[in-house]
Amino acid sequence: MSFTVAIDGPAAAGKGTISKGVAARFGFAHLDTGLLYRAVGRRMLDGETPEAAALALTAEDLDRPDLRTAEVAQAASKVAAIPAVRAALVDFQRAFARRAGGAVLDGRDIGTVICPEAEVKLFVTASAEVRAERRYLELAAKGSRMTREEVLADVKERDARDAERAAAPMKPAKDAVMFDTSALDIDAALAAAIAVIEARM
Ligand code: C5P
Repeated sequence: MSFTVAIDGPAAAGKGTISKGVAARFGFAHLDTGLLYRAVGRRMLDGETPEAAALALTAEDLDRPDLRTAEVAQAASKVAAIPAVRAALVDFQRAFARRAGGAVLDGRDIGTVICPEAEVKLFVTASAEVRAERRYLELAAKGSRMTREEVLADVKERDARDAERAAAPMKPAKDAVMFDTSALDIDAALAAAIAVIEARM
């Protein structure tokens, strides 16, 4: 039996934490699909064409420790607008979603394009200021010297590019459950997500 949970939303809305918590709670496999685009962006920064990089992606690419930087995030959002890059990554994501035992995938287009038949679709969001503050603290903990203002500008630029692109733009599926985590701590957000999923099982 396969059971798919699709979790979409903008940067630093809490998708990753909710996805990991949901996967742990139900014993589902978890795929952070942003990592695929980050790995392609990383290879582009290293000099490859994005289309070739997307076709050549391996498991080692996803394990690279340097994918969580602001530079790679911006590169990811640029390569993610290229239809051939997105097309090269579809089969892998769909196969992952159908694995036996259940799967949770988080990204921007999981409920709309990758898994329109997912049993549960969540769209997780929060105000740009709250998201930027979370990302700022995350980056600062890793030694980044970016200011709050720079992180906010960065998050807004990436969200605009992701929402306005022609290929699989970030948007909620028509039947997605909307979740605003601006005023929720992570335990409350996770509990709410788990309740939605349990109701559909
Ligand atoms: O989620 P994360 O911040 O790691 O994603 C990095 C970038 O990858 C996003 O800004 C977006 O452009 C792209 N992405 C996408 N579709 C997905 C997941 C990520 O276009 N399903």
